[in-house]
Amino acid sequence: MLKDKKIIVAISGGIAAYKAADLVRAFVKKGAFVKVIMTENATKFITPLTLQTLSSNPVFIDMFSLIKESEISHISLAQYADIFVVAPATANVIGKIASGIADDLLTTTIMATKSPVLICPAMNTNMYTNAIVQENIAKLALRGYYFVDPQCGELACKATGSGRLAESSDIIEEVECILTEKDLVGERVLVTAGPTREPLDPVRYISNYSSGKMGYALATAARRRGADVLLISGPTSLKPPRGVKLVPVESAVEMQTAVMNCLADSTIIIKAAAVADYRPAILSKTKIKKRRGPLVISLERNPDIIFEAGKKKKKNQVLVGFAMESEDLIENAQKKLKDKRMDFIVANDLTQEGAGFQSDTNVVKIIDKQGSIKDLPKMGKIEVANAIFDCVKQIRAKSNE
Ligand code: CTP
Repeated sequence: MLKDKKIIVAISGGIAAYKAADLVRAFVKKGAFVKVIMTENATKFITPLTLQTLSSNPVFIDMFSLIKESEISHISLAQYADIFVVAPATANVIGKIASGIADDLLTTTIMATKSPVLICPAMNTNMYTNAIVQENIAKLALRGYYFVDPQCGELACKATGSGRLAESSDIIEEVECILTEKDLVGERVLVTAGPTREPLDPVRYISNYSSGKMGYALATAARRRGADVLLISGPTSLKPPRGVKLVPVESAVEMQTAVMNCLADSTIIIKAAAVADYRPAILSKTKIKKRRGPLVISLERNPDIIFEAGKKKKKNQVLVGFAMESEDLIENAQKKLKDKRMDFIVANDLTQEGAGFQSDTNVVKIIDKQGSIKDLPKMGKIEVANAIFDCVKQIRAKSNE
């Protein structure tokens, strides 16, 4: 998504300026063209040479230097960028932008641009919580400037509190979100993700290898496209996606309760979770001790959550399920699609390289109620998620015809 995007990273003079190097590198790695503007003060914290090397472009500092013979730098840079990322943004720079002061290359260029500007504040916590700084932030937010809040933690000045520059991954996600077309505005998307854990005794459970990556990618993609997103997730090691409401659950029964509570309110329901079909019939209160001979564990059926959701499905709701198969992919998926009253099913073949649980990619077929089968090549899970939402949009378009 950031491939070939033109990003200007504008660095102001705070200790977090060194972190901008990591950010520039990450943008370049994603295929973006990056140019860097620095204030004079920023050059005291990190050298322009570092940023020039990482961005493979000259670094712009001086207001009065011409880019080519007659190109005026702030005008040319203001027009170049698809997006500006001010990171770190000091109290001073935020104050200047909010007050319409343009007295160096960074502030002049920001004033001259029509592109979105994402401001990433970083400063001492007393400065950040100062009412004047907060007023300036609120004023800019109201005018359409975007913000990534700083993190809480220990600051370079040894104080503890809010003021640490947001992580590069959060800044990048916000850029992705800002640059994504908002075609799911008004949709309330419910996604389930991850495995469930079915407890056996206080120290053991039955589960599966699901990493949750597909469900988290769906939640991320839906949020980028402007939907309100609720993610009901079994235990995973993934970072919760930004801007998404996360409801953590453990067992299938807990997941069922969470889904049923929110079902009526959702317009798109995607069940990417790998729900355990069975749970131990008896939950031992004490640790099961080993004995001679084999141990037999009796299992009982868990609720089929998507089946229950299918029964309650309303006319305006789109219900999407997944099928993971190791044989007879199409036949098995088509049966699940019909039995569980889904609008379409995303089927993946476990035997294919690049498909399934732990992978960052997936190879899927999207099969709908009318019998059409879309065969997608191996793709990143975000791309698969976007293909799924494109299918949802087609259903919406058809129902509006
Ligand atoms: N699913 C569910 N509740 C369950 C089991 C599955 O909601 N107890 C959902 C999954 O989230 C998925 C779809 O049903 O969207 C198909 O899941 P899958 O495990 O492939 O199929 P099962 O119906 O469990 O059938 P089987 O395990 O026999 O293949």
